[in-house]
Amino acid sequence: MATETCPEDHQKDWREPVTDAERSIGRLVAEMTVAEKIGQMTQVSNESIAPAEVADYFIGSVLSGGNGNPTPNTPSAWVNMVSTLAEPATETRLGIPLLYGVDAVHGHSNVGGATIFPHNIGLGAARDEGLTERIGQATAAEMLATGIQWAFAPTVAVPQDIRWGRTYEGYGNDPALVSALGAALIRGLQSTDNGRRAVLACAKHFVGDGATLWGTVTPPDGVDWWDAWGDGWQIDQGDARISEEELRSLHLLPYIAAIEAGVMTVMASYNSWNGDKVHGHHGLLTGVLKQELGFGGFVVSDWMGIDQIDSSYETSVVTAINAGVDMVMVPENYRRFIEVMIGATSTGLIPMHRIDDAVSRILAAKSSVGLFGPQPEPPPLATIGSPEHRALAAEAVRRSAVLLKNDRALPIPSGIATIDVAGQAADNIGLQCGGWTVGWQGGSGPITAGNTLLDGLHASTVGNVEYDPTGRFSNRGRADLGIVCIAESPYAEGPGDCAAPGASNEDRAVFARMRKRCDKLILVIYSGRPLVIPDLIEQADAVVAAWLPGSEGAALAGLLAGVHPFTGRTSQPWPGSLADLGDAGATPLFATGDGLDLTAAHSADPLETR
Ligand code: GLC
Repeated sequence: MATETCPEDHQKDWREPVTDAERSIGRLVAEMTVAEKIGQMTQVSNESIAPAEVADYFIGSVLSGGNGNPTPNTPSAWVNMVSTLAEPATETRLGIPLLYGVDAVHGHSNVGGATIFPHNIGLGAARDEGLTERIGQATAAEMLATGIQWAFAPTVAVPQDIRWGRTYEGYGNDPALVSALGAALIRGLQSTDNGRRAVLACAKHFVGDGATLWGTVTPPDGVDWWDAWGDGWQIDQGDARISEEELRSLHLLPYIAAIEAGVMTVMASYNSWNGDKVHGHHGLLTGVLKQELGFGGFVVSDWMGIDQIDSSYETSVVTAINAGVDMVMVPENYRRFIEVMIGATSTGLIPMHRIDDAVSRILAAKSSVGLFGPQPEPPPLATIGSPEHRALAAEAVRRSAVLLKNDRALPIPSGIATIDVAGQAADNIGLQCGGWTVGWQGGSGPITAGNTLLDGLHASTVGNVEYDPTGRFSNRGRADLGIVCIAESPYAEGPGDCAAPGASNEDRAVFARMRKRCDKLILVIYSGRPLVIPDLIEQADAVVAAWLPGSEGAALAGLLAGVHPFTGRTSQPWPGSLADLGDAGATPLFATGDGLDLTAAHSADPLETR
């Protein structure tokens, strides 16, 4: 479709019956001043605004970005931070409630002590809609306990190149799987079953974020934050140079399922499509999403996403709003944004009916989750990280791990004398959680509550477990059985773009030490994507892809001990060489859908069958 410029937006066809909610929203919009309307379209970072200014500028939404945590990062501090920013909104002339948003992308993952579920690449390997929906419900409950009612999830990207730093945020490279699991999470988040309070979901990033080509990223001029990270971005926010047919068949499908599941917000994507920034693409945001697919919710921009449209900020604002962006995640210099919006509406560059359409959509979404009217008691703080939620997360860990190879090594034989465990990742919550955990880029070590693979092995009855992260075990001889756990260092977005996803030198050295001294060696991998490590896979007797399992890593021990069966299947092709990367026609070492059951006595070595 062409990128039409006429700002005709998707006005509700008022010949259709007007519901009471629409009537009351219509009346409310008619009451609002231009400043109040523009305020509703403004989303500000919690780190960039004082509570009083939320009222002064009639701000419609505040978010906590990846690092937008209170200090200390505790559930009660979150409750206090959110309520302090939300209360002034109710004291304005019209008292339109504030909508607070957060990246609850694998549980309420910014919050210290929250349950951290496996990242989406693992849930894609679990392939279980019911499990994913229950995770959405649990996530919503933990969010509501902190007073937050908007999750910037699910990511419904369909990653096509695993060098992308956001591969793990996608459920997999199959649009049908992504559609099913994205819809399931939306149902879970927005569920009102059993008296639940709904949380707004957000399907992101519309559209084509998983289709970008390596090397097509152009740092946006005039955007200073890029310099700090510029060496990272190689494919994230790049250009999706694909046909309309491929865009529709691979990357648009999950949004059709998301809309059918009732999603009320969609986040625009940083990427371009054949050179045109999606944030300014009327044909996609209005023509396809709102008019063709009938999306009745609102479109929120990404973080400074509109700034990349043009070197003139005013042009960027006018282009984005007229293209169909309804709320702008400014999120810092909101005074400038509001000033430009007031100017553009007074000159008619942005027609008032576009403003009214955007505000109506935003108010309808707020109303759909009960933000107007008396607010029920929130769930108790004990909901956050509750045993029930951690048990659900442990179930998800077991369902997501994939047994790639097993040459008479698993299950761990009963009665074995000692099991030597090595690799810092075997006892490191941060490495098993990955990015978007407590901090934007995640971290290493005990960054939040949880348990590790080592904890699980110690708690199991498999035998005497010895741990040396270096794998030297200098005071011991050979071992019957060894387990090495390797991990990618945590990352999020462009900083995670990687030309050669593989094992670190440190992890390789640990593996080599253990290979020499163990009769049987099991390799456990924590990663946001398949890693190109054919040599380690060949040398190991068994290989388990655990992806980024989250806070309940101990659950993996039950799989290794044969207490629970392996049922996971890869949701991305696993390359056998660097030459395979970015080559859709290459024959992978393991294909999407591969995975062994525990009962497999041993597998034909995949390297021998290439
Ligand atoms: C980020 C991400 C988006 C996230 C938003 C708010 O840049 O692209 O997925 O929801 O900013 O943190």
